[in-house]
Amino acid sequence: MFLNEEESLYIQKSLSLNGSIENGSRLFRMNCVGCHGISAQGLVGPELNNVTEELRDKQIINQVIKGLTPPMPSFEMEEQSMADLLVYLHSLKD
Ligand code: HEC
Repeated sequence: MFLNEEESLYIQKSLSLNGSIENGSRLFRMNCVGCHGISAQGLVGPELNNVTEELRDKQIINQVIKGLTPPMPSFEMEEQSMADLLVYLHSLKD
C-alpha cells in the first residue's frame, strides 16, 4: 500500500478524530449503497458487514480514497467525514 505524504497525513488525521455514527450512516447511504447494498450485503461490490474485522482502518481509508479497484471510484471527503464513515463501518457486524 503506497502512500504519499499527503495521504499519510490524511489517514493519521482521520484516525485521530471521533466519528459520528449518524453522519457515517448518512454518508454510506449517499455514496456506497449503490454498489455495496443498503444493508452492506453486497451487490456490485463485496459485502461490508465484517469488513473492519478483515481490514485495518488504514486499508479501508486507502480503499476509499485511492480508486485503485474500478468500478469503485475514489472519494474525496474531509477527515471528519472519513472518521464518521469508519465508526459506521465498525458498527456493521453480522
Ligand atoms: C461503483 C461501485 C462502488 C461504489 C460506489 C463503492 N464501492 Fe467499494 N467496492 C466496489 C467494488 C467492485 C469493490 C471490490 C474491488 C476489488 O476487490 O477488486 C469494492 C471494495 C470495497 C472495499 C474492500 C472490501 C474488501 O473486502 O476488500 C471497501 C472497504 C469498500 N469498497 C468500501 C466502500 C465505501 C465505504 C464506499 C462509499 C464511500 C464504497 N466502497 C463505494 C464498488 C464500489
